[in-house]
Amino acid sequence: MRIGILTGGGDCPGLNPVIRAVVRKALIEGYEIIGIKNGWKGLVENDTMALDINTVSGILPKGGTILGTSRTNPYKKEGDLLKAKDNFKKIGLDALIAVGGEDTLGVASKLSKEGLSIVGVPKTIDNDLSATDYTFGFDTALNVAMECIDRLHTTAESHHRIMVAEVMGRHAGWIALEAGIAGGADMILIPEVAIDVDEVCNVIKKRHSRGKTFSIIVVSEGAQFKGSEMVLQEKKLDAFGHVRLGGIGEELAAQIEKRTGYETRVSVLGHIQRGGSPTAFDRVLGTRLGVKAVELVKNKKFGKMVALAGIKIIDVPLEDAVKALKTVDMELYDIAKVFFG
Ligand code: F6P
Repeated sequence: MRIGILTGGGDCPGLNPVIRAVVRKALIEGYEIIGIKNGWKGLVENDTMALDINTVSGILPKGGTILGTSRTNPYKKEGDLLKAKDNFKKIGLDALIAVGGEDTLGVASKLSKEGLSIVGVPKTIDNDLSATDYTFGFDTALNVAMECIDRLHTTAESHHRIMVAEVMGRHAGWIALEAGIAGGADMILIPEVAIDVDEVCNVIKKRHSRGKTFSIIVVSEGAQFKGSEMVLQEKKLDAFGHVRLGGIGEELAAQIEKRTGYETRVSVLGHIQRGGSPTAFDRVLGTRLGVKAVELVKNKKFGKMVALAGIKIIDVPLEDAVKALKTVDMELYDIAKVFFG
């Protein structure tokens, strides 16, 4: 049996633990494993690399992906789909393990409906995939963001400033919400709840009226002002139809400073949240998902995605994972609100 593995979309810590687990488990089963480089681009271009026990040695703590990644969507460009399907045969794949977020797995789901033997593994720092409790990458991003918020606290306090921390997460506020709770933010702004600048300023003023001379506001890149459009870095769409978010922090800071008179600064955490070594949680989750993915291949359970349900790794239909975005749990947001101001 020859199994391919690819990693697509934005990278995240935990991808290498998955690759290592897939290779190690596949070798135990007596399967051959081949790396498809740079996501779906590698399948379109027949760009592969050999994977064996030595290639995956030492990669467990490494961030990123040794396979490389891209946001190539074979359904986007005329001819690419055919090339991808041809190369699946040419490479001699009996099965393909696709590791990715909603976009990469969206392609996996479509290809699987067209008859290709595919198993999905969920990843994303955004934690916005349905049908799994957590995606690996999220915990690491969360811890990075929390540490940044801790660091912003000390400088905000010394300078008596408002610090706005803009975090990633696209259209779901998971990173902002959980990093904000963990870092003790005084206000958390997420895409799921429109921003009312008056309310934000009132919260800050109330806090300052009880003697505090600084505040920390965490804002998700996808959050929107009430009645306004989303703030974009670039309108141009990528191959999966996404705009580039970013810039809400600056706009928010300007409005806060103008309305409250408090000096306000912004930190955009950006790709720092996606880099570096995975946390223990992400290493363990990635390892479990990788081993389970090979088990699904062994049992010919294709068109499925491995997922975390409570403390168990289960399998779910690929299409369930990609049909709706998993936005934040509003009960968790209510808990966060207790600490606003
Ligand atoms: O989906 C992961 C993510 O990091 C989002 O949080 C962010 O909006 C986007 O990717 C950034 O993408 P890029 O790496 O293309 O700038």
